[in-house]
Amino acid sequence: MPIETTATVVAEVPDDADLLAVPYSADLQTARPVELHLPVRDLLAHYEAKGEAGEIVEVPVARAGGVGRVLLFGVGDGSPRALRKAGAALTRRVKGRDRLTVVTPEGDVAAFAEAALLAAYSFKIGESGKKAVRTLAFAGADEQAVRRAQTVAQAVALARDLANTPSSVKNPAWLAERAAESGVAVRVWDEEQLQADGFGGILAVGRGSASPPRLIQLSYTPDEPADRHVVLVGKGITFDSGGLSLKPTENMKTQKTDMAGGAVVIAVLGALARLGARVKVTGLVAAAENMPSGTAQRPSDVITHYGGRTVEVLNTDAEGRLVMADALAYADAVLDPDAVVDIATLTGAISVALGRNVGAVYASDDVLAKQLLEAGEVTDDRLWRMPLIDDYTPALESSIADLSNVEAGSRFGAGSITAALFLREFTGGRPWAHLDIAGVGRSTVDEGTLSKGATGFGVRVLLEWLTRA
Ligand code: BES
Ligand code: MN
Ligand code: ZN
Repeated sequence: MPIETTATVVAEVPDDADLLAVPYSADLQTARPVELHLPVRDLLAHYEAKGEAGEIVEVPVARAGGVGRVLLFGVGDGSPRALRKAGAALTRRVKGRDRLTVVTPEGDVAAFAEAALLAAYSFKIGESGKKAVRTLAFAGADEQAVRRAQTVAQAVALARDLANTPSSVKNPAWLAERAAESGVAVRVWDEEQLQADGFGGILAVGRGSASPPRLIQLSYTPDEPADRHVVLVGKGITFDSGGLSLKPTENMKTQKTDMAGGAVVIAVLGALARLGARVKVTGLVAAAENMPSGTAQRPSDVITHYGGRTVEVLNTDAEGRLVMADALAYADAVLDPDAVVDIATLTGAISVALGRNVGAVYASDDVLAKQLLEAGEVTDDRLWRMPLIDDYTPALESSIADLSNVEAGSRFGAGSITAALFLREFTGGRPWAHLDIAGVGRSTVDEGTLSKGATGFGVRVLLEWLTRA
């Protein structure tokens, strides 16, 4: 479900707004574009308000039809992070209401509005719970900033929806249909075409499933000729049971979101035109369902990737790198990109290292790493750079193939790093970055801009990077 809340801009604050939000800062001063006829300072002092972001003091006021409410909301230090927290808190407070008029705070309006919209997201199958506020009217806000916020928030919501959809509905062909609705040109390889072109990794992972795999390519071309071509590659495992290296139930039940990276790629490609991106962007989603069956690949099988590299599959649960390797090799051989960024729920190990709030970025190129880290900081899709430690490359040696997909023993460990090193083998030395979002791809809390389930992590950082450069 897309976000059903609409953000609009109004020039002035109506005197008689039933529900009005007014910001105040840490020194308990309110913005005063409107006469509130309230002893604001005394009220804030009475409620022991501190001015922190997320703090809301609710005051009943007389209105023609009865009682209205003024929500005094703290904006902390006014930083984008604080404004996000304040925006999300407001939306959550006015659940079920028709319209909230907001006296727009000073600072990053796009961040404020975006967070307010994201906090309205929920994924429900069937009718239950209170609906989010229908309209957020930002008084005196910059229209362009609010429009951008709306576009970005809807893209995040789309990525969440795709990842939250149960795998009984969401198979590789379904994902390809959703990609075709994104508004950009789409090409899809079915099983036969994958076979003909030699995508051995995607085929091997998909072999155990009744729903055959797909490779999905989405192409965005800006109006003006572009001087840069970026390829985004997303992991599109529509369900990861582990395959014959079967996962236990506890680990398996979250794995409908194992296509979160692919969902981000689809959502980003769909939003580029509306944001006026000036780079050429090609998206690749390597989609397969990883299932055990009589036709599934076995631990010890050797597969041949796009371009001819062979891999010994020692663990069928390390399937993400197998589908990604094909797409990365294809991007290098055919698409001639200036930079490649892949995004994948690749390893449980990264959530051990970085937890649930910060995503990992690996990069073969320092400039690319720096750009992504900065974009992450600005958008709140926070990233931390992880090292590609060359000493660990022997972990992926195989005695019978060019590589193995996991370490045979346990000498090296570092599961997220060795997975990144595996991917690097297929990038042809191009400027490349890899986002491991296994930790941040889902949320266990319904709080702030997050709702339980898929987070859409990656949409905001990639859109920022692709549209502000
Ligand atoms: N999809 C999983 C990674 C994952 C784990 C994502 C938890 C989200 C939450 C991936 O395909 C996987 O199974 N990785 C294995 C790799 C191992 C077999 C080397 C893992 O992390 O255990
Ligand atoms: Mn797996
Ligand atoms: Zn997986």
